[in-house]
Amino acid sequence: MKRREFMVWVGFGTLASSLPVAIAACLSPSQAATSPATPSRPTGVSPDRRLAATPRSDGFVAIGTVAQLNQSGAIINKDFEPNGVAVIRDPANVANLIAVSAACPHRGCTVRWNGSQSRFACPCHGSQFQPNGAVAKGPANKPLAAYAAKIEGDRVLVKVS
Ligand code: FES
Repeated sequence: MKRREFMVWVGFGTLASSLPVAIAACLSPSQAATSPATPSRPTGVSPDRRLAATPRSDGFVAIGTVAQLNQSGAIINKDFEPNGVAVIRDPANVANLIAVSAACPHRGCTVRWNGSQSRFACPCHGSQFQPNGAVAKGPANKPLAAYAAKIEGDRVLVKVS
């Protein structure tokens, strides 16, 4: 390859590699955010997080929807203060809700609901809790804190204590 051909290829390659940057620089921020050439970044905002807002005057805050609860069997909302909340339907009476702290009292890992065993389980060190938050198996030696919960319309509400 002659020197001149080499320089033409280098110039073409430089131009081709900088073209996307040049196009992005020409777009307005709103165009850039929606441009298919610029993949949108996930906001990290879950539907639950959008629902978790300032508590109402009666102290209840929406932490999810009935559809989410029915689909997943539980709503785990980490944005509920102070330690997140886990809401399930009471296995003894599915018309009632149970809301407990989502943070394991052992070292703070987020518990999961195991519907087939009707237990909250901590993935970190194996603690298990009854649906009402009582310790079923250690090392945790304190129950999950309980909260009042109810359904209004299509929303699952938990009372901030
Ligand atoms: Fe849950 Fe240790 S943090 S068992």
